[in-house]
Amino acid sequence: MEHAIPTDLSGWHVLDIGCNAGFYSIELAKRGAQVLAIDVDPHYLKQAAWVAQQFGMEDRLELKQMQVYDLARLDRQFDLIWYMGVLYHLRYPLLSLDILAQKASHLMVFQTLTMPGNETGDVPEDFGVNDRQPTLEAHWPKMAFIEKKMAGDLTNWWAPNHTGVEAMLRTCGFKVIERPGHELYICQVDEQLRQHQHWNQSEYLSAVGLAWQDTVQDKIAQKNAYMVSGSGSKK
Ligand SMILES: C[S@@+](CC[C@H](N)C(=O)[O-])C[C@H]1O[C@@H](n2cnc3c(N)ncnc32)[C@H](O)[C@@H]1O
Repeated sequence: MEHAIPTDLSGWHVLDIGCNAGFYSIELAKRGAQVLAIDVDPHYLKQAAWVAQQFGMEDRLELKQMQVYDLARLDRQFDLIWYMGVLYHLRYPLLSLDILAQKASHLMVFQTLTMPGNETGDVPEDFGVNDRQPTLEAHWPKMAFIEKKMAGDLTNWWAPNHTGVEAMLRTCGFKVIERPGHELYICQVDEQLRQHQHWNQSEYLSAVGLAWQDTVQDKIAQKNAYMVSGSGSKK
């Protein structure tokens, strides 16, 4: 995917989530970016610090022990978010994407382990509660839940299918602009897509521990509008 990223990232602020020993962070720093690299595991962060020193990149790399969810309370924006190999390790994957949509000003490079298959196709704008058959179609957005282990690793929780990845990204405000390889997605922040979720802002704020009461009216108003005009019966 080297070609998909500008070779000169001078002046770019980049966030690498789940940086591990810093492979991607260093490559991005070598292209001139100022990188904030986070990981939960202090051992990996120590390795990344050592690697940064070997490449003389300490000035361009800031390492912090953080969970992806902690970013909700970080008052910074990033031109490029590097989010590879982490989503399927999370209990709360969609929340992580919602958080990143608030922090991204331009691009996100995303990778996740997925379900087999590469089906594509549209889903209806709405469908009846007694007509759930379409959700069984191969192209319907889905995530397989891994209750036990995969590859002996009990931190693997979810494997979305391809349409599931794209649908989740869309509802968070990211448009896929390129797929440079299997399970790889280059996304652009799309303000219009992001607007679609404004009605649900109260739930996001509550999930990240911020005051939500002032925004809940949007959600209630949308729900009531549906109950009156949609196929739901007004109770
Ligand atoms: C499979 S590795 C991916 C490493 C690297 N991003 C890559 O694509 O090669 C997952 C990394 O995410 C980190 N990680 C797991 N849960 C995390 C979380 N909640 N927040 C931030 N990092 C996390 C792990 O410690 C590990 O370094």
